[in-house]
Amino acid sequence: MDGNQQSSTQEVLVLEKQVQELSINGDEPPPRFIRRDKDDVPINTSLSSSIPIIDLHVLSSPSSSSEEKDNEMEKLKLALSTWGFFQAIGHNIPSSLLDEMQRKANDFFDLPMEEKKKYSINYDGKQDYLQGYGNDLVVSEDQLIDWSDRLYLLIKPLDQREYKHWPDNPNGFRKIINEYSMKTHLVAEIVLKYMAKSLGLEENYFHSAVQENAPTFLRFNYYPPCSRPDLVYGVKPHADGGAITILLQDKEVEGLQILKDGNWIKVPIVPHALLVNVADQVEIMSNGVFRSVVHRVITNTEKPRFSLAMFYVPEKEIDIEPAKDLITESKPRLFKKMKSEEYGELYFQSSSRGMRGIDNAR
Ligand code: SIN
Ligand code: FE2
Repeated sequence: MDGNQQSSTQEVLVLEKQVQELSINGDEPPPRFIRRDKDDVPINTSLSSSIPIIDLHVLSSPSSSSEEKDNEMEKLKLALSTWGFFQAIGHNIPSSLLDEMQRKANDFFDLPMEEKKKYSINYDGKQDYLQGYGNDLVVSEDQLIDWSDRLYLLIKPLDQREYKHWPDNPNGFRKIINEYSMKTHLVAEIVLKYMAKSLGLEENYFHSAVQENAPTFLRFNYYPPCSRPDLVYGVKPHADGGAITILLQDKEVEGLQILKDGNWIKVPIVPHALLVNVADQVEIMSNGVFRSVVHRVITNTEKPRFSLAMFYVPEKEIDIEPAKDLITESKPRLFKKMKSEEYGELYFQSSSRGMRGIDNAR
């Protein structure tokens, strides 16, 4: 779940055209896409290189010493409490698989429109989760639409997958999506375990996000070039609503920016790293120690950009609330208790009114 996914119960409009179709002639973006905010936050380029890099191999390998592990865990804690983001290396997913994933995704978005539309989202208002090819869910006429096309797939729970939305063109795409999903699941397990340990919590504390019935979404993002990138957002500013997100970024084209200390920081490309970020429900569970940070995507005039986000969300019925051990006299409880599913609804309602869900959970 993030700002654009979820809640198929609401009335939705379907855009006539995919952004890719609008991009072809290089025309000015239509009014629905034009930003209305002031955007007076400066972009700081010098801090980009400070986005922390964490070696998951050091954390999880039996051959690292306990001192090495403790150091890496301290770095992880600092990364998530200051940046809310880190670049994961040593994640054990072969570079060849990551390259193949990007290649296949680009091949998919390069297919003729009528081929891609075979996988379009069906807005029938019945399903729990939206799945398929499309763009932003449009719930109101004046909603600002992102300059991107997407392919949403529900990876878990397994029995809710809708394979009719899983493209088998290009050849082998489904197989590789499956393989990538299984491998990132292992990464998520490691990250969540050491996140909990770094806070002195029981190691399964965040485990509800990787349980069998916990929802996991995969979202392919395709950002076509835009003649006026200054007027649109690839993705408007938002924080993610689940537990954690694991992102595979384009190998060549930057675009993601993180809000930190009143500046937008450009996220650099670290070849074959996976970008991991805290989402709102982990911020709540950590009583605000780990930060779910606002980020956005800016497009460019020249090149399409690809990214692939895997959203890990706690199981619906789990109570989301600050860990007792993280509530102290000097750090009182910051958030109320609610079911993960309720938070999802609050997040969606808040986002559609331009607010942060987490601000309504205090
Ligand atoms: C997102 O945060 O929704 C997308 C991130 C990206 O494309 O880099
Ligand atoms: Fe996001």
